[in-house]
Amino acid sequence: MEEKMIRELIETAAAQRQYSYAPYSRYRVGAALLANNGTVFPGCNIENAAYTPSICAERTAFTRAVSEGVSGFDAICIVGGFEEEKVPSGYSVPCGVCRQVMMEFCDPQTFRIIVATDAEHYDIYLLKDLLPQGFGPGNLKMNPHV
Ligand code: THU
Repeated sequence: MEEKMIRELIETAAAQRQYSYAPYSRYRVGAALLANNGTVFPGCNIENAAYTPSICAERTAFTRAVSEGVSGFDAICIVGGFEEEKVPSGYSVPCGVCRQVMMEFCDPQTFRIIVATDAEHYDIYLLKDLLPQGFGPGNLKMNPHV
């Protein structure tokens, strides 16, 4: 991936933290999802007093993209940390539920997950390495009922 695109995704994810609604954990996460048509979909975590309806930044971004008719993706960037940290002190890696959502829409061999604190500090993983042996749409392809 081009350095310029990585930087753009990190800056978009970091900026999105300002919209995070996280009164319970006080952990603000921003995401930037790069579609294969070049569009970047931002997302943030949105918590709930009943806890379980809370949604992570990554899934907010996917929901946004898919609901606009986009379903092919190249990469996602995640920047997360406690609200008092302007620049997070460590990397936020996607939770298991978010990895499973990525598995639904992304090729695990090529989809990149960028975890960052700022434009100079990041790591890049492939989905196949964060969700080995993942169960996905391919597993249901032979089902004559689908
Ligand atoms: N969270 C995300 O949005 N993405 C991650 O990758 C890790 C966790 C959110 C969920 C919850 O609102 C808060 O961070 C603390 O877990």
